[in-house]
Amino acid sequence: MTDKTWDATWDAVDRFIADHLLENDPALQAALEASEAAGLPAINVAANQGKLLMLLALAIGARRILEIGTLGGYSTIWLARGLSPGGRLITLEANPEYAEVARANIVRAGLAEMVELRVGRAQDTLPSLAAEGPFDLIFIDADKPGTPGYFQWAVKLSRRGSLIIVDNVVREGAILDASSDDASVEAMRRFFELAATDPRVTGTAIQTVGAKGHDGLAVLLVTSAP
Ligand SMILES: C[S@@+](CC[C@H](N)C(=O)[O-])C[C@H]1O[C@@H](n2cnc3c(N)ncnc32)[C@H](O)[C@@H]1O
Repeated sequence: MTDKTWDATWDAVDRFIADHLLENDPALQAALEASEAAGLPAINVAANQGKLLMLLALAIGARRILEIGTLGGYSTIWLARGLSPGGRLITLEANPEYAEVARANIVRAGLAEMVELRVGRAQDTLPSLAAEGPFDLIFIDADKPGTPGYFQWAVKLSRRGSLIIVDNVVREGAILDASSDDASVEAMRRFFELAATDPRVTGTAIQTVGAKGHDGLAVLLVTSAP
């Protein structure tokens, strides 16, 4: 792993972007405040990334969304705001205490009708979703070592035209280190191998810098039915 690189300009530019392009959504702000008050780690997506998730959902007219890794429901709220009328989002969270905070945040955002939170390890809850797919958009943002397995599930739970979005794929550049014994880095390298060799998907990844540091987001399109 290289030394942590950080530039205060990144934070400032994130604020500039938010000031210009992000509407003030009291429910999202309240979700962050309630999550902090409950002691949840601040590992939610940045606001501009949250809005990107919402825009992608809106752009594809998503009616079914699956999220793996809820935390306090911040990205859940963004994604649910992108659902088409009558749409539904299922979000998976392993930690029951985090799930409780997320539930309250989702209710406060007025999204309880369209969001279902399932508590349990995604490895255990994903198999039960086969009958509820296919999903139009799947966002993977849980434990990083689980990512390759979640990606394989995401493809199974997709249809032609589904989007699969994976967070934290660059890890401050540590993704370059083939000899890394960091389980998250190894997992992301494995994810890239899977994504590169699976004929059913085509994708890309972009590096991101900002309030959350240097990382990356992968976006994959499912091009043939799994
Ligand atoms: C990075 S946070 C999710 C952040 C959230 N997507 C957001 O942006 O607001 C990762 C979450 O995954 C949860 N998690 C960890 N291992 C998990 C597992 N095996 N199954 C489901 N959730 C898991 C953690 O408890 C944590 O809440």
